[in-house]
Amino acid sequence: MTEKRAQFTTRLGVIATTVGSAVGLGNIWRFPFEAGVHGGGAFLLIDLFFIFIIGVPVVCAEFIIGRHTGLNVRGAFRALAPGKPWGIVGYLGLLASILILSFYSVVAGWTLEYIYQSLTGFGGISSVDGLHDRFDGFATSDWRPLMWTLIFLALNYIVLSRGVQKGIEKMSNIMMPLLFVILVVFCINSLRMPAAGEGLTFLFKPDFSKVTPSVMLGAMGQAFFSLSLGLGCLITYSSYFKKDTPLLKTAGIMASLDTLVAILAGVIIFPAVFTFGMEPAAGPKLVFEILPSIFMHLPGSMLWSTLFFILLFLASLSSTISMSEITIAYMTDEFGYSRRKATICNTAVAMVLGAVCALSFGALSGWTVCGLTVFNLFDYLSSNILLPVGGMIISIFVGWVLDKSIVRRELIGKDSGVRPWMVTVVVACLRYVAPACIGLVFIYGLGIF
Ligand code: PFF
Repeated sequence: MTEKRAQFTTRLGVIATTVGSAVGLGNIWRFPFEAGVHGGGAFLLIDLFFIFIIGVPVVCAEFIIGRHTGLNVRGAFRALAPGKPWGIVGYLGLLASILILSFYSVVAGWTLEYIYQSLTGFGGISSVDGLHDRFDGFATSDWRPLMWTLIFLALNYIVLSRGVQKGIEKMSNIMMPLLFVILVVFCINSLRMPAAGEGLTFLFKPDFSKVTPSVMLGAMGQAFFSLSLGLGCLITYSSYFKKDTPLLKTAGIMASLDTLVAILAGVIIFPAVFTFGMEPAAGPKLVFEILPSIFMHLPGSMLWSTLFFILLFLASLSSTISMSEITIAYMTDEFGYSRRKATICNTAVAMVLGAVCALSFGALSGWTVCGLTVFNLFDYLSSNILLPVGGMIISIFVGWVLDKSIVRRELIGKDSGVRPWMVTVVVACLRYVAPACIGLVFIYGLGIF
């Protein structure tokens, strides 16, 4: 059924591509706005707990499944547990990937608009309020967000149709290090702002009185979203891993770099939020209103701004490529579609749903379900529900059902430095800790109890 799979060529390529999937708008756009809405420090702390105690073991679980089977998300479960309902996670993952791709492309489209705005000097606007109004005007307009969403998806199509190694690996290798450097430069700049102390206190000082069930649900969703976890993206990517890729180490590096980028983004944003007297709980528009205001105060503002939004656009692209790969691998493996045909199907569906999301700040803002616009609904459903449910099923499957010798063999591998006790710890997390924590957050966060 499957032809021999393409593989990543170098170890750096594996790390850069996996980190490329994880690092994106989730860190630089979603983390600051979610942290802002959910009270800052306490949110960060719970997010860290979910990333390192739950996330890393579940990332390993996806890697084990993907590399062992070398298959797409649906095929992998069918191969490991034929005739059993575990494959449902494959369908949930496919649904989540398309929902995420749709709203994510809208925000990625905003980065394209901002590249254009940076190049044209934001129409000569030089006040913070003016920049905010400009963003509001853009996001609620009828055609511009729509146009950029479609352009972004077309670009995503072009990279995808060039194939796994060439397109993805090359781009990630160049882009990720550059993004780190520029984030560090902006951090130093923000730390010198008048209200830097206030911003850092907000981000790092947990105020436990603000921890509500919905904060916990939000932080859990953020951790899964940011790690690209729970929807089979990492199963799909690891199906391209070589046999000597160290899984635990790759998971650890990925989670650490991912967290580092989110924290850098927070350190850039919150000092500026307090310095410019903005509301941290401004929601999805927070980062897009704050960043240009930061750049405006830098020497050579146009250059910084352009460079930053180009990098943010590329970081988004490496993430959308990875989520698209879930459906593409599924359609090529399961239905024998050509890569091109599968990519066209994926792009077409995302364009239709993405268009609705793009308009949900303006013309379609009245289309709501439970008070959420289509954009917010897709985000909430996928991040807070589908990904953690997927993560829970995957952890139970690898913890309880999958043959332990497979788990051991994949984790220990050749020269991976993994000791048997580490395997025991990972398996214990998968068996007990992850399902219990995810289950509890659901019960409280969704008000089931
Ligand atoms: N982890 C990405 C980010 O933080 O921007 C988003 C993402 C990528 C989610 C791939 C899901 C996925 F399959």
